[in-house]
Amino acid sequence: MSEALAQQYREQGFLVLPGFRSPSAIAELRQRADALIEAFDPAGVHPVFTTREQQRQVDDYFLGSAQTIRCFFEEEAFDAQGQLRQPKARSINKIGHALHDLDPVFDRFSRGADLAALAGVLGLERPLLWQSMVICKQPGIGGEVRWHQDATFFETTPISVTTFWFALEDAHRGNGCLWVQAAGHRGPLRERFVRRGDIATIEALDATPWPELDEAVPVEVAAGTLVVLHGLLPHYSAANRSARSRYAYTLHATDARTIYSPQNWLQRDAGLPPRGFV
Ligand code: FE2
Repeated sequence: MSEALAQQYREQGFLVLPGFRSPSAIAELRQRADALIEAFDPAGVHPVFTTREQQRQVDDYFLGSAQTIRCFFEEEAFDAQGQLRQPKARSINKIGHALHDLDPVFDRFSRGADLAALAGVLGLERPLLWQSMVICKQPGIGGEVRWHQDATFFETTPISVTTFWFALEDAHRGNGCLWVQAAGHRGPLRERFVRRGDIATIEALDATPWPELDEAVPVEVAAGTLVVLHGLLPHYSAANRSARSRYAYTLHATDARTIYSPQNWLQRDAGLPPRGFV
């Protein structure tokens, strides 16, 4: 079984594992995410998360989220007067980026012998969990995430970053599911996100074009499914114009045997070192 999974992952660059987390575990995580949003006081700041600009809106709020838990608004959450168009709970784009280390419910969800064993099968011998995110993809305004490779944001030598993407709600074409280029992980890393001081920029590395849309495969999955993505696999998700949200929870792990770039935006202090799945 594990060899079959490993082979599929090597060939396709992604895996879909239905029912990896129980309905009760999913419900508990959803409730915890909702409680974090409820407790979030924006206090006049409008931290919006967008992936469309080459130079991201990186500010202290974003950079500081490497080692804490912060909420980011959807780009379309505000009207021209700067007022929320809909309730706060329906305006958040994502929560990040140290949920798995700082929140007991997320910590529990993010770790376990099952995940450690899966990581080992996929070649992550000494996994380190750098980042966790709840991605809300809110109804009506949930923004698109354009073609990218996650290794852009977690450069290691050699490349090792692996994404663990848990569906907290059913994800389908109608509400902005993942789309992947099957076997696209065999191509080069096209871009890297480099931080210099307080500025972080996308830099081109390779001119290989992004896949055509007709090369993209939709990853339509039920809540509880775990999707694993190779760090070089091109993927995107469309905007959610439907009436229902599309919550997902993601973890990004690298292998401690590789060299983690000091230019990656996400760094940890000695007081909060990244840990593995157990
Ligand atoms: Fe991604």
